[in-house]
Amino acid sequence: MKQKKHTKKDKKPAYKKTSQKEENKTMANEIKQNGKGFSEAEIAVHWKEEELIYPPSTFVAQANMADPKVYERFSEKKFPECFKEYADMLTWDRYWHTTLDTSNPPFWKWFVGGKLNASYNCVDRHLQQYKNKAALIWVPEPEEESDAVITYQELFVRINEFAALLRDFAGLKTGDRVTFHMPMVPELPVSMLASARLGIIHSEVYGGFSGQACGDRIQDSQSTVLVTIDGYYRSGTLIDHKANADIAVKRAEELGQKIDKVLVWRRHKGQYASKSPMVKGRDFFVDDLLKEFKGARVEPISMPAEAPLFIMYTSGTTGKPKGAQHSTGGYLSYVAGTSKYIQDIHPEAVYLCMADIGWITGHSYIVYGPLALAATSVMYEGVPTFPDAGRPWRIAERLNVNIFHTAPTSIRMLRKAGPNEPAKYNYHFKHMTTVGEPIEPDVWRWYYYEVGKKEAAIVDTWWQTENGGFLCSTIPAIKPMKPGSAGPGMPGIYPVIYDENGKEIERGSGRAGNICIRNPWPGIFQTIWGDPDRFVKTYYEKYCKNKNSKDWRDWPYFAGDGAMEAEDGYFRILGRIDDVINVAGHRLGTKELESACLTVPEVAEAAVVPVVDEVKGRVPVVYIALKPGYENEGEKIAQKIVATIESVIGKIARPKNIYIVPDMPKTRSGKIMRRVLSAISNRFNVGDVTTLANADVVEKIRVLVQGKDKVIVEKAPEDLEHFGEEK
Ligand code: WTA
Repeated sequence: MKQKKHTKKDKKPAYKKTSQKEENKTMANEIKQNGKGFSEAEIAVHWKEEELIYPPSTFVAQANMADPKVYERFSEKKFPECFKEYADMLTWDRYWHTTLDTSNPPFWKWFVGGKLNASYNCVDRHLQQYKNKAALIWVPEPEEESDAVITYQELFVRINEFAALLRDFAGLKTGDRVTFHMPMVPELPVSMLASARLGIIHSEVYGGFSGQACGDRIQDSQSTVLVTIDGYYRSGTLIDHKANADIAVKRAEELGQKIDKVLVWRRHKGQYASKSPMVKGRDFFVDDLLKEFKGARVEPISMPAEAPLFIMYTSGTTGKPKGAQHSTGGYLSYVAGTSKYIQDIHPEAVYLCMADIGWITGHSYIVYGPLALAATSVMYEGVPTFPDAGRPWRIAERLNVNIFHTAPTSIRMLRKAGPNEPAKYNYHFKHMTTVGEPIEPDVWRWYYYEVGKKEAAIVDTWWQTENGGFLCSTIPAIKPMKPGSAGPGMPGIYPVIYDENGKEIERGSGRAGNICIRNPWPGIFQTIWGDPDRFVKTYYEKYCKNKNSKDWRDWPYFAGDGAMEAEDGYFRILGRIDDVINVAGHRLGTKELESACLTVPEVAEAAVVPVVDEVKGRVPVVYIALKPGYENEGEKIAQKIVATIESVIGKIARPKNIYIVPDMPKTRSGKIMRRVLSAISNRFNVGDVTTLANADVVEKIRVLVQGKDKVIVEKAPEDLEHFGEEK
């Protein structure tokens, strides 16, 4: 590939401000443009190449990584030793002897023989130089409440005291699991780093998940201690969060896992935001307990590089969530390296990532990565548009944030609610990130021109919970940006696109297929907690070339995303190819939702499909067939289903619509045709349904959903086009 010089001027912005009506039109056009014309050859035609935009020279001049030779240093010839460059950003108690051990594929081991502690690397080692520097700045949602500025020294003290509590009061030791059900408060990183200090494996469950979802994850990880908080703010409301802990403990116990202690942080010291009573002997206020541990110091435990650091649950194709188990040495090396080169985090950075620490982005790029590099990481408690769409920009202006990181859903939301807000505030980003979903080029342009004021380099980072850190992205000072494309493989990451039969799709052909990574990398998860068979089956079986081989080249990692690669080596990610819906950047399994529906007694059958949503990307729609005799109670039952989904999974899974249908479209063997339901929901052509067992029901459902008039969107977005097809 040719290396372009940075002297090239930005092209004239294709971006122009659009009215809401025009915007909708653009959305529709985009769906059309981006949709593939059913044959792969046509995709290339429909894939409109966007303009390249070069990073500002001011950015390049100060960048951590501006040397194009980095790609050579991380080339396949230098693999796996190249990753020493990342590992050397950490402080090791003992250096490793083997960079990559492939003796038991695909259970790769990185930096074998090495020992280190993650908490030490994120805090202790910075004290000498930076003890008075802000490690975390926490911005509460209510604007009248002041920020909490936590210096590295203060963070060190809090981590030590809480670690002493975990060890001496809660009785936890190295290798035990502890579940957190915490929102965006500084007590969450404190809890994480206190666990890491002792080699306790933390499992943080996203705060917006229901108590029941938390209980399922407690059981799966066999935790005996739950750490939670009484309440937190969301859209101006102080949420009663402790109530979820009671449900979680009950649920875990029903499943056979007993929680001995619930440790409850308090949002406001000395007050209690919850109506749920504290259970004697089980529930304890952390602030009360901490009085006993004032001034306590806990030696960080030197952990083997391959010791698990944490578990992060994510959705898959079956109802049961998967616990992605991440290592200490490999993971921390990878997030430190990518935070430095891709996020361009310097110790002086004031870095605001608006993801939630309850998801992998927050673990890697709010807590572990930025703190490993001694940066100031800003955490915001609440909703980006609260109390108005100027909020993030006010935070940025006041704290002088220079690096900003968020997801397309927030960008769309902020654009919709306040397209002209960024211009009103005097902040300057040098760098911005988009992550978690495909970003429409038009939305990208608003981000670049309005939010970034043309001053910031943008990276579109593609990766997953399972990956620890970025897989595809531009290196911001080296490669130009292309709206809507993530970019080439990261240094040391060698992507490949296969077709369904395992045949490699020609590089740079612009043809769609299943993106895989040919090689292991330090941030890759180690296994699915407690289910190594599912790990192998889900991620490696499909494209494994020889299951007896100990050569990593025979074990490509199957990501579960559709993608295409342009001539210039940039990858454009199309979305999930499995039964996972990416709702506002949150991964939800359709099977999880269907199982929740089926717990409602009146429901006979349930099918969940994704539909396009202007702000959230994709949202779930639910189809229900009732048991006989309930035909007249549809409305009531639909409400019951919504309530059930919210209590089993959480509000994020709330369906856009629930349709009670006379019957599900089925094959002759009785399988529900989700493909047909998806086509109807998204107004695509349903295709040939004559082979169905009950073809006549298709038109009935279509009228129910779309009304009598038929309006067909000609081309489906790539991820939806094949949704629900037999694989
Ligand atoms: C999607 C989030 C397009 C993708 C870090 C992936 C993206 C899933 C991008 C993982 C991106 C993530 N462009 N799509 N830049 N980043 N995705 O596990 O479908 O919550 O498989 O990890 O999000 O979601 P997860």
